[in-house]
Amino acid sequence: MNIDNFRYELYQWYEANKRLLPWRETQDPYKIWLSEIILQQTRVAQGLDYYLRFIDRFPTVQDLAAAEEDEVLLLWQGLGYYSRARNLHKAAIEIVESGEFRVESRMESLELKVDRVGFPKTFEELRQLPGVGDYTAGAIASFAYNMPFPAMDGNVYRVLSRIYDDETVFDTEAGKRHFRALDEQLLDQTNPRLFNSAIMEFGALYCVPQNPECEQCPLQRFCLAYAHHTVELLPLRKPKNELKDRYLNYIIYLDKADNTLIHQRTEKDIWQHLWEFVLTETQNSKLSNKTASLNSIRLADRARQGRELSTLNFTHILSHQRIHASFSVQSCSELPTIENTKQVAIKDLDNYAFSRLTLKALQRLFH
Ligand code: ADE
Ligand code: SF4
Repeated sequence: MNIDNFRYELYQWYEANKRLLPWRETQDPYKIWLSEIILQQTRVAQGLDYYLRFIDRFPTVQDLAAAEEDEVLLLWQGLGYYSRARNLHKAAIEIVESGEFRVESRMESLELKVDRVGFPKTFEELRQLPGVGDYTAGAIASFAYNMPFPAMDGNVYRVLSRIYDDETVFDTEAGKRHFRALDEQLLDQTNPRLFNSAIMEFGALYCVPQNPECEQCPLQRFCLAYAHHTVELLPLRKPKNELKDRYLNYIIYLDKADNTLIHQRTEKDIWQHLWEFVLTETQNSKLSNKTASLNSIRLADRARQGRELSTLNFTHILSHQRIHASFSVQSCSELPTIENTKQVAIKDLDNYAFSRLTLKALQRLFH
């Protein structure tokens, strides 16, 4: 393939079709980093709002580093994969602290340049930040500094596997190395920023997983999968792991003044540092049935209490787990004493970060 022609067609397409996105209008590494972390497991349409809110509240990495983790989690609420938010905050603190260290060392030996103070400037330094893998380090290095590193997200793997009609499984360490080498051959050394943005955007908007419009595709003449009729089969990924089933039984206690009990998750587990209602986790759904029948006994109290008691059961899928959730609202004259819980008014729940699962339940129960 003639790589210059390939890039030329790709760039033509990109200039005519690219979305105007705020993180493309900047070369501020902090903003690019933030956008990439948000977009890791989130669609642009949803991530955009969060990005704007984060930039508004934390315009610089110093602002983010100075925040409490709880505030960061609250702003992240609803995006899922909360370790991203915790790592973001941790990394901001590291960046600011090492920046301060650099200022000090500058005063001792004037060898370090002024522009080394602040955000990490090399691929290796970026790669060492919590939550920053090869993809994100490459994205920051190329988008912010125009340095020639691949930035390969799922879109890029799809495009490359099709262009080369390459059946290598891409979501393994060996597969990533393999496609990285292909990408490095195509990467535009004089404008890596443009190349990475363009190929990623082409995958996101044009060479989509299902039914791409190959007939009109500007890259069709370079595309081996098109020639071999294998487009729909690519890319190949390793077989999915089975989801682990978990049974989470929540009780939402409500006293007469509309206070409830919540608990902050501390274990190294899903939703670390997020809040939730009083939880009993069981090996199967037994307890859900028990609370359900308990609830039906209490239905008789409804009229007297003037409060709708209800139990909500639903399943919620996370990346590796299938959560069978049960939320049971229980009125009581006084809240029970339960270790590690905190009493809060229902109307103040907004001040705490909850998982999407719990937000979903609250939405259905109280709105
Ligand atoms: N997804 C991940 N990074 C992106 C970016 N920089 N622009 C658009 N979508 C993205
Ligand atoms: Fe993708 Fe089809 Fe274009 Fe090949 S021809 S690059 S599969 S859209």
